[in-house]
Order: sequence, then C-alpha cells, then structure tokens
Amino acid sequence: MTDSIYGAWEGALREIMERMTERLSEFNSRTAQETGYKVYEHLNARVKSEDSMREKCRRKDLPETAQSALTEIRDAVGLRIVCNFIDDIYRNVEYIRSFPDVTVIEEKDYVYNAKPNGYRSYHMILSVEHPTADPSGNTPGRYFVEIQLRTIAMDTWASLEHEMKYKREVSNQRMIVSELKRVADELASCDVSMQTLRDLIREGSE
Ligand code: GTP
Ligand code: MG
Repeated sequence: MTDSIYGAWEGALREIMERMTERLSEFNSRTAQETGYKVYEHLNARVKSEDSMREKCRRKDLPETAQSALTEIRDAVGLRIVCNFIDDIYRNVEYIRSFPDVTVIEEKDYVYNAKPNGYRSYHMILSVEHPTADPSGNTPGRYFVEIQLRTIAMDTWASLEHEMKYKREVSNQRMIVSELKRVADELASCDVSMQTLRDLIREGSE
C-alpha cells in the first residue's frame, strides 16, 4: 500500500473542510430563518482524491509529495457552493471574506467576466489557519482552500461541458465549442431574468 500523498496532514485537511462546511451551512439555515430564503441551494465539499492529486502533480511537473499537494497546488480542499440566484453568490463571498481565520489570496470573477468558452463561476483561493503545523513549518499552519460559487444554471453547464470535454470528436469540434458557448450565454441570460423576477417578487411583498 502506498502512503497518502497528504501524509500527516490528511486529518487537518478534512477538519478544515468540515469547519468551512459547518459555517456555511449554519449561515444558510440562519438566513433562511431570518428572511425565508436560503443563501445557497446546496454545497459540495471534498478533499481531492489521491489519484487526482498525483495526476495533477505529474501534469504540473511537481514531485508527488505533501509539500507539492499543500503548498504548490491550491485545491487539495475544495468547496462548491451552488446558488439559486446570481446575487446569492456575492452574499456568500461577503460572508466568507468575514471569517477571522481566513485570508483571501485570490479571487476570479468568471460570473461577470466569463471564460471565452462560456464558463461562469466565482472562484476564491483562501489561506485558512489550522493548529497543525503545515509542511513549511508554520504554526498555526496555513492551508489553501478553493471555493467555487455558481448558480444552478452555471453548474449544469459546467458539469455537462466537463463531461463532454473527453468525448469530442475532432471533426465536429468547432461546432460543439461554439454551440456550448451559445448555450452558456443563453443560460446566463436566464439567470439575469430569474434574478429580476425575484427582485420584483420581493418588492411586491414588502
Ligand atoms: P488549476 O487548473 O486548478 O491549477 O487552476 P487554474 O489556475 O487554471 O484556475 P481556474 O480558476 O481557471 O480553474 C480552477 C477550476 O475551475 C478547475 O479545476 C475546474 O474545476 C473549474 N473550471 C475552470 N474552467 C473551467 C471550464 O472551462 N469548464 C469547467 N467545466 N470547469 C472549469
Ligand atoms: Mg483547480
């Protein structure tokens, strides 16, 4: 049996993932109680699997070590927050920014600046404190966490696009790429319409 690439840090990574999940889930329940609306629809959290992490190290020409997995690669811990409405993405982002033991290292707003292929999502890379010393020797340790925030429509598109990435035939590649882009833009326009409808419903009930 080979040792985990995460070595002695696997437990710390799982604890960080659970702590972040609990906080967000508590925020969701509290917001629902106070306003009648959830701030996200669902949330997925994972520690990147052994195979995927080793594959990513090889792809990036890094040695397959805990040092690479935790200090060079920044998505050993990943959370995906799937929201009903565009505005909810930014409510979650504001909440995450307020965590005292979290520093936001990088943010990419692919919601307003979609990737050329049509991909939309809000990405955050965080540095999160944990009592366990990290591979560089800092105590408390600092560990990267990647958070992706999307609407249900963006998530649907990203899942299908990811699925099809591996199954495209060379002959009709260009057509598929341009159709995927068109569908992404149509879904984005639906997201804007749904947001407008929600705002109208809220105004009407005030
Ligand atoms: P890594 O490739 O993870 O090192 O990061 P990067 O610097 O290219 O970051 P980026 O923010 O572009 O992407 C990080 C993650 O977002 C990916 O691992 C995917 O989960 C997701 N993602 C980014 N672009 C796409 C895309 O075009 N399609 C889909 N389905 N997912 C994407
Ligand atoms: Mg990644």
